[in-house]
Amino acid sequence: MAPTIRATDAQITGDVLVLGLKRDEKKKLTILTSGIRFDSASILSALHELGASGALDEVVKLPGDSTKLMVLTGLGNGELTHETLRRAAGAAARSLLGQSSATFALPHKNREEATAIAEGALLGSYVFDEFRGSTKADRKSPLSKIEIHSTLAGDKKLTTALNRAEVLARYTHLVRDLVNTPPSHLNPVSFVSKFQPLAKKLGLKVEVLTEVQLKKQGYGGIIGVGQGSANPPRLLHISYRPKGAKKRLAYVGKGITFDTGGLALKPAQGMEAMKSDMSGAAAVAAAILATAELKIPIDIDSWAPLAENMVSDNATRPSDIISIYGGKTVEVLNPDAEGRLILADALVRAAEVGNKNGKLDGIVDVATLTGAQVVALGTRTSAVMTNNEEFRDEFLKSVTRSGEQFWPMPLPEELRASLDSPVADLANIGERMGGMLVAGLFLKDFVAADLPWLHLDIAGPAFNESKPHGYTTVGGTGVALRTLLAFAEDLVSQ
Ligand code: BES
Ligand code: MN
Ligand code: ZN
Repeated sequence: MAPTIRATDAQITGDVLVLGLKRDEKKKLTILTSGIRFDSASILSALHELGASGALDEVVKLPGDSTKLMVLTGLGNGELTHETLRRAAGAAARSLLGQSSATFALPHKNREEATAIAEGALLGSYVFDEFRGSTKADRKSPLSKIEIHSTLAGDKKLTTALNRAEVLARYTHLVRDLVNTPPSHLNPVSFVSKFQPLAKKLGLKVEVLTEVQLKKQGYGGIIGVGQGSANPPRLLHISYRPKGAKKRLAYVGKGITFDTGGLALKPAQGMEAMKSDMSGAAAVAAAILATAELKIPIDIDSWAPLAENMVSDNATRPSDIISIYGGKTVEVLNPDAEGRLILADALVRAAEVGNKNGKLDGIVDVATLTGAQVVALGTRTSAVMTNNEEFRDEFLKSVTRSGEQFWPMPLPEELRASLDSPVADLANIGERMGGMLVAGLFLKDFVAADLPWLHLDIAGPAFNESKPHGYTTVGGTGVALRTLLAFAEDLVSQ
């Protein structure tokens, strides 16, 4: 659950007061606030003695004056952007496990900046302790109540924006929970059962195809990937059809609840991170819920092909040929390139359903698809590939607003030939160099040229295996959800 949030302009008396710390051009430390007046000289000299620098992710705690605790969070030495405020608030929130409430009095000039502070504080207030049974007593919970100190406190539009921030954080926390849940406790069937009640509560239509139906209806990708597992595959389809919808989108998310690599078995070291291979599916399913909860007037169909990629006498063998939904055949040369197989099924089906009543304005897939993505862009920047640059540029505008990091990547036609197969319509792997782009080109084969399409490869950013930073905790990050929501809003706001 995300904390509750509200704005206040009352005198601060709570448990914790969060303020900003920055070094000015002359390298002098200054405390920046939302307009609170207090004598900062003695505090600044203490901070100086403590060696504080005001860098991002630096959090210093001091005994408070009117509050128990004063928390100084670094604002960095650059410009005070929305994302800087989000990160500074997030770092402070992360440091406050065990405290129940805090007032964030960080500097801001307008509603958007106040909202960024709220988002950071909410997103940073997360822990995953569902499976810590024995140490219950010393478990520390994140903040449950957040106040944003602001002179704008009475503003109705700020209240609306804070409500949106709360929704966004709550669904981000849901995605993180699912990503962090191990495959012993999350498989295709239980993934579906986590979303079903949430979707129903919002009045959304849910349709689930079982392995029997998938097989009968020709979903060779999902079946081929899932057939090696005792946990049967599923295709989860959630639809949101509000009255007065102005646009129509389809989302497709990769839902491999665990990726062993199949018969192309991955090395043991690092395999545990493959519990995060359903991050795309969780992001698209959560995004449609968030969009519906906020009543954005846009039609969305969200598709999550779900399977567990396992090793068994029943697993797909290298050289097996499968038939994707719609009839195209694929020679499976490498069972570890499984994401593209389940996505191909779902992309074809999503376009078929989407174009049934009218025309889709676009289709977006989200996937932890390639290790090559991580090599190319690192662990914090996701890739976006497309068959329509105008559509991608619209998306990148929404990226600026969400604060997530995406970078455009090409789909060079000359790499497509490497996916040719001597025995099937195409093979599931091609040229190794540029592997992220080759995977994108594979998917492109399953999308009509005139349907605007985005492929988001989030392999690196979906799962934080190193230290926490800003509002990003360890483990599942919930990446892509915030941009999908912003994109849907922006598409219908013109
Ligand atoms: N799920 C992996 C990609 C991945 C790697 C995600 C690292 C997150 C972190 C995907 O199914 C995979 O195994 N891809 C292969 C493709 C290759 C066989 C063409 C890869 O990237 O090595
Ligand atoms: Mn794989
Ligand atoms: Zn995978």
